[in-house]
Amino acid sequence: MKRILVTGATGQIGSELVPALRTRYGSDNVIAAGHKRTPQHALVEQGPYTTLDVTDIEALATIVRDFRIDTIFHLAALLSAAAEQNPQVAWKINMEGLHHVLEVSRVNGCAVFFPSSIGAFGPGTPRDNTPQDTLQRPTTLYGVCKVSGELLCDYYFTRFGVDTRGVRYPGLISYETLPSGGTTDYAVEIFYHAIQQKKYTCFLHKSTTLDMMYMPDAVRAAIELMEADPHQLKHRNAFNITAMSFAPAELAAQIRQHIPDFTLHYQIDPLRQAIADSWPRYMDDQAARDEWGWQPQYDLAAMTRDMIDHLMKKLS
Ligand code: SER
Repeated sequence: MKRILVTGATGQIGSELVPALRTRYGSDNVIAAGHKRTPQHALVEQGPYTTLDVTDIEALATIVRDFRIDTIFHLAALLSAAAEQNPQVAWKINMEGLHHVLEVSRVNGCAVFFPSSIGAFGPGTPRDNTPQDTLQRPTTLYGVCKVSGELLCDYYFTRFGVDTRGVRYPGLISYETLPSGGTTDYAVEIFYHAIQQKKYTCFLHKSTTLDMMYMPDAVRAAIELMEADPHQLKHRNAFNITAMSFAPAELAAQIRQHIPDFTLHYQIDPLRQAIADSWPRYMDDQAARDEWGWQPQYDLAAMTRDMIDHLMKKLS
């Protein structure tokens, strides 16, 4: 990886992956591409920034050629609940966007990182210790795009030799940029509300357990997988990875260790509850550990402490 393009750079993952990549590979070698969201100051000030609509393949090809890109981290996508509200637009952005990235990569010899998700599983999948290789019949458009995306990435690798790699991210928790339109967003929002109002109304049931991960682990996973020795990889698209697994009530209990008068209330959103009920409670990530040494660093207690420390400073 010498010249890197990050699509969806202004989103929850991109806004933290771009600075990490710039630190590692040099600021001028990492081009951040955003679309609708106003870019964070750091993205624009610390290195090249461009606007890009991934549904425009010509615009994408021009950036890849002009900047002599050799690796694309393709993060631009709508999240699960947003996709459910507008499936036609979601297909265009999530699926056509990925196809464009793969085509441009095939022609220009780029490697591709594609984030899949716990959303790539469905109600027929074993929800506990979800195997790496198992039934994937998701019931959301987001999930359909993720499974199709995993398959398409594998196809481009076996058919055309494009170096495609990906992980199935669990819900991601971060203090830099809020997620939007996701089913696991509660696990980020809860911290803002706990600090500012000492109470939060959760849209998922108190005992809905889902896989989660703190953003520093998620960023490191993407970089480590793309740097991994290809000869060690039996899988490519995509590896189960996880760091912790909890329900809203357990997260609230952990937050109360730091903010004792925090209270959690519930008002279930049927759409997001149904999505969460179709996803794994915790995945088996042994293949990632074996094939490229995946190892999370933050558990629930460490993540909660760090989130509260950073948000206290940010919000004060
Ligand atoms: N965090 C995502 C969502 O909730 C899942 O990949 O949509």
